[in-house]
Amino acid sequence: MRVAMIGTGYVGLVSGTCFSDFGHDVTCVDTDLSKIERLKAGIMPIFEPGLDDLVARNVADGRLHFTTDLAEAVAGAEVVFIAVGTPSRRGDGHADLSYVHAAAREIARAVKGFTVVVTKSTVPVGTGADLEAIIREEAPDADIAVVSNPEFLREGAAIEDFKRPDRIVVGTADPRAREVMAALYRPLSLNTAPLLFTDRANAELIKYASNAFLAVKITFINEMADLCEKVGGDVQEVARGIGLDRRIGPKFLHAGPGYGGSCFPKDTLALTRTAQEAGTPLRLVETVTTVNETRKAAMGRRVLEALSVPPRGATVAVLGLTFKPNTDDMRDSPAINIVQLLVDRGVKIRAYDPVGMEEARKVLPEGIHYATGAYECAEGADCLVIVTEWDAFRALDLDRLKTQLRSPIVVDLRNIYPPEDLIRRGFTYVGIGRGDLSIG
Ligand SMILES: NC(=O)c1ccc[n+]([C@@H]2O[C@H](COP(=O)([O-])OP(=O)(O)OC[C@H]3O[C@@H](n4cnc5c(N)ncnc54)[C@H](O)[C@@H]3O)[C@@H](O)[C@H]2O)c1
Repeated sequence: MRVAMIGTGYVGLVSGTCFSDFGHDVTCVDTDLSKIERLKAGIMPIFEPGLDDLVARNVADGRLHFTTDLAEAVAGAEVVFIAVGTPSRRGDGHADLSYVHAAAREIARAVKGFTVVVTKSTVPVGTGADLEAIIREEAPDADIAVVSNPEFLREGAAIEDFKRPDRIVVGTADPRAREVMAALYRPLSLNTAPLLFTDRANAELIKYASNAFLAVKITFINEMADLCEKVGGDVQEVARGIGLDRRIGPKFLHAGPGYGGSCFPKDTLALTRTAQEAGTPLRLVETVTTVNETRKAAMGRRVLEALSVPPRGATVAVLGLTFKPNTDDMRDSPAINIVQLLVDRGVKIRAYDPVGMEEARKVLPEGIHYATGAYECAEGADCLVIVTEWDAFRALDLDRLKTQLRSPIVVDLRNIYPPEDLIRRGFTYVGIGRGDLSIG
């Protein structure tokens, strides 16, 4: 099957590459010429484990192509995916659909023969109907069906998630489109991934509802962590105890500095806007978005409180900058809020991230010392903060770390170190949700 993927970012590049790996012929399109040129030269524009090998193999086999020529890619395709960004619209928090609408107009002018246009971007309920209207207005004779097929992959585990998803959601009422989508995903459904056919509006809602539910779960355990600190509990024990209940499950119960990333913050906000406009506010989700933002700021204050010297002129070492491990994505990372607050109070920052530093430089304030590794990062610092739980930080030589630091203070915002290990070595320890040990 011939596929065009419009938008070659985290979702488009991974989905397009995986479809080609299943034997389809895929052309990935992007307006960003430098991205396409890098891909043609075999250089990945993003960090995603295993992606470079998978791209190289499928390019070599002649099934995966990269271009900026949308019209040519669409004209030759039976299925056209829209996988462009849907960031928060400045000012009101609605999803900014300008990239999606622009892509739909370009697609309309280029389609030839029956074509299934699939929205993979996360878009508010009703967008599929709008896109269909846009395409019909632009090309009244075009033979198209607009389908919703939201994506659930997680950065850092994107290939595995795409190839072995919990479910594939396809929203369409068109029997021809249904047949095409079933054929496209047949290799995955052979892997026993349930293919859930529903209507377009439900598919659009399922994506937002899933992200909102997970954001609620994270925020719930984060607030439980605050309670544990006040009343003498240990949130990790509590999370384990509740997660063993199969109705609840253990995932997304790791207390931390608040959720970030390219999806949860913008999607929860967009969903609350949709609900407000519909006259049925989702008060639970509204509260979650506020609690999460407050939490990110509170984490910066937690670091300030841990310092044994005045903030102005103090140095803080920050380990981990990306919103989670195994990605270079800095979008809405808690590190941004934490670093900004510290810099505003006159703290000097030393920072290290295994792959996110190039992206971090674009969004963090000026004047940060970017270190070459974890130990160099700690050198001369008055406090070490672990913001992202990269594997490389899980087994640091604590004695060596102590000799690097000016003051042996560790703020572990991911609870990756047993407090006893640090305390036994003479560190002052601050974690998350550990009542008897934490401050704040
Ligand atoms: N990143 C994730 O983990 C994830 C997971 C599930 C769903 N999503 C959703 O998928 C969508 C894409 O997210 P992303 O993280 O891949 O975004 P991204 O910003 O990494 O990539 C989007 C790409 O689209 C390109 N683009 C924009 N307009 C274009 C056009 N008219 N023609 C061709 N290319 C165009 C941009 O240059 C960019 O390279 C969003 O709606 C997002 O919410 C993302």
